[in-house]
Amino acid sequence: MKLRILHPVLLLFVISMAVLARAQDFKKQVIYQIVTDRFFNGSAGNDNPSQSSGLFDSTKTNWQAYWGGDLAGIQQQMSYIKGMGVTAIWISPVVDNENLNMNSGTPISAPYHAYHARDFMRVEEHFGDSSNSWTAFDNLVTAAHQNGIKVIVDWANNHSNYNAGGEFGALYNNGTFMASDSNDPNGYFHHNPNIIDFNDRYQLQYYTLAGLDDLNQENVTIDSYLKTAIHQFQTHGADGFRLDAIKHATWGWEYSFANSVFAQAPSFLFGEWYNNNPGDPLYHDAYKFANKSGMSELDFGVNTAVRNVFASNHNFSELDSNISTENTNFIWNADQVTFFDSHDESRLLSVNNNNNRLHQAMAFLLTCRGIPVILYGDEQYLHNDTNGGNDPYDRVWMSSFNTTTTAYQLINKLATLRQSNNGLAYGGFRQRWINNDVYIYERQFFNEVVLVAINKNDATNYAISGLFTALPAGTYTDYLGGLLGGPGLTVMSGSGGNNPTNNFTLNAHTVAVWQSVGAPAAPEAGSIGPTVGQPGIKVTIAGKGFGTSTGQVLFGTTAAAIQLWSDSSVSFNVPSVANGVYQVQLKNSSGTPANPIQFTVLTAKLIPVTFTVNNATPTSMGDYIFLTGSTIELGTWGTTFDTAVGPMLPPNYPNWFLNTSLPAGTAVQFKFIKIAANGAVTWENGANHQYTVPASGTGSVNVNWQY
Ligand code: NOJ
Ligand code: NOJ
Repeated sequence: MKLRILHPVLLLFVISMAVLARAQDFKKQVIYQIVTDRFFNGSAGNDNPSQSSGLFDSTKTNWQAYWGGDLAGIQQQMSYIKGMGVTAIWISPVVDNENLNMNSGTPISAPYHAYHARDFMRVEEHFGDSSNSWTAFDNLVTAAHQNGIKVIVDWANNHSNYNAGGEFGALYNNGTFMASDSNDPNGYFHHNPNIIDFNDRYQLQYYTLAGLDDLNQENVTIDSYLKTAIHQFQTHGADGFRLDAIKHATWGWEYSFANSVFAQAPSFLFGEWYNNNPGDPLYHDAYKFANKSGMSELDFGVNTAVRNVFASNHNFSELDSNISTENTNFIWNADQVTFFDSHDESRLLSVNNNNNRLHQAMAFLLTCRGIPVILYGDEQYLHNDTNGGNDPYDRVWMSSFNTTTTAYQLINKLATLRQSNNGLAYGGFRQRWINNDVYIYERQFFNEVVLVAINKNDATNYAISGLFTALPAGTYTDYLGGLLGGPGLTVMSGSGGNNPTNNFTLNAHTVAVWQSVGAPAAPEAGSIGPTVGQPGIKVTIAGKGFGTSTGQVLFGTTAAAIQLWSDSSVSFNVPSVANGVYQVQLKNSSGTPANPIQFTVLTAKLIPVTFTVNNATPTSMGDYIFLTGSTIELGTWGTTFDTAVGPMLPPNYPNWFLNTSLPAGTAVQFKFIKIAANGAVTWENGANHQYTVPASGTGSVNVNWQY
């Protein structure tokens, strides 16, 4: 093999391009979710490794055993993945998992799904190699990046492994034993019973999730262990993380976890808050968390509605109202991660074995607001309907890699459109025409417009009249080239962004996509990421028309230090300005401003601090104690559910406690307040409490409510 040596300047360029790619927002990406064990067996050498032998089933009949898929296998299928047009993969947790059969007999029960960590510092031997080295992961990341594909690693902060069997929760630090459920002198685990009430905030965070040994993230050793471990994955090139069970790890601590990730590199973070559906009792907590932590969330509201509408034939109004509710509540709604299938639910085709409906659901997801995830195998129409197709039967073996299926081509076309028309990535979402079976909606970012029409009825054609659009006057062909039967469209001139279209027939099971891209009149900011961080943290604004010569990014009147400036992406460091919420203003080199975009400047690096207030009484049902104080991290003296920190937790009522993340080394003032069910606020008496947050580690505060 001939060794190619890069010229140093070229090498620098290659490196800075890689950094730029990592810093970009994810809204232009389409994510492909892979259950690593079930995708492709790239190396037979790791099928039955010696330290965890006997957990492999070569016959693929025991669905709870390892079946041989591995990181090398994903790497070997890179051209298949790339050919589908997806630009990111989300893979199962990569860390070393427990080695023992959880069933202590037959049939074998193995952590093939990889949510049973034993060592967050090492790579699982079934996915890599028997020395738990990084080689296979590094090779996969390199191959993915060479193909323009980002790598998202699944990551579970909440727990190690089963507390009652297998390895009894045993946790290791790069091979050195730390603790297990029965041998935990330093309090690394919570040791509480299983969660019973999934609407109880205390149980959710401090009890045990289905027998999975519950890590105590506020413990100073565990705090640093988890943060160090994920930094290792960032250093090895991971571009983002899907955070498992964020409703079950300590919410306050997770702010400091996200902050620690962002301080290392601007990786994309999205968490699984099951279930952040608008109807859920903790919906408000869910979107408050997404709005403040800097993490996106998997969008279970859209998941439920898409499944109901396309598989179970509910009316489109359900989807429409869901999206409009979420769009009002989630500030960063276009950063939420949308999906209709996952490794945790029956595949759409198991619910309704109708490929047309699958295509429609895919087309919807790929054009809806949010970052879409396609579950591996959906593009091959794979499903196993045993037990309704539920876990584990949704984790099918990827038995075909056919690049000519309609679904594969559909994904490719719409992933390509996401790159070329910013309406999909950054645009608003607007319903234009609806009945029970037909949904026509528009995505618009300035003068980039995508109009989508779906008729999900299997037999009835609908006459469409009275449709308006922001597409400019002209004639349009279906962007999908008739793949799902879409007709052309004629648009006449109207006014105010409402141009009338011709009347037309939308045939049964049809999807049409019409689009237009116009040149920007001024710089257009579509995205900022991360959305929260202290001075010095690297942030990227993405969009269009920034120009090629360097302009300015202003926080109030203070300009940020620009790192990289291109026509569509600008990276900079947050300047030293006072903590608070800013409407950041990008200006091109001739001073023309873009639309402002929101960013929260923290006071300093966040560390976890636990507050206890004793004897905060009386409170009646529905009243909660909150914490509020002098910095943005403490809500800047806010007194509402959204602005104050909390609600606090009363497992030892009338004492309340809350773990939260505060700026390291900072002197703060705070008070506790009661917010009644009707919003009425009662302040504790006396002077403000004072506290200086430690410079590192964790902190704790214990005071009495001042009467
Ligand atoms: C949610 C994951 O998606 C699921 O598969 C897993 O079993 C649990 N969290 C626990 O890690
Ligand atoms: C076994 C289930 O099959 C799997 O889905 C789940 O992830 C684990 N239990 C719990 O982590």
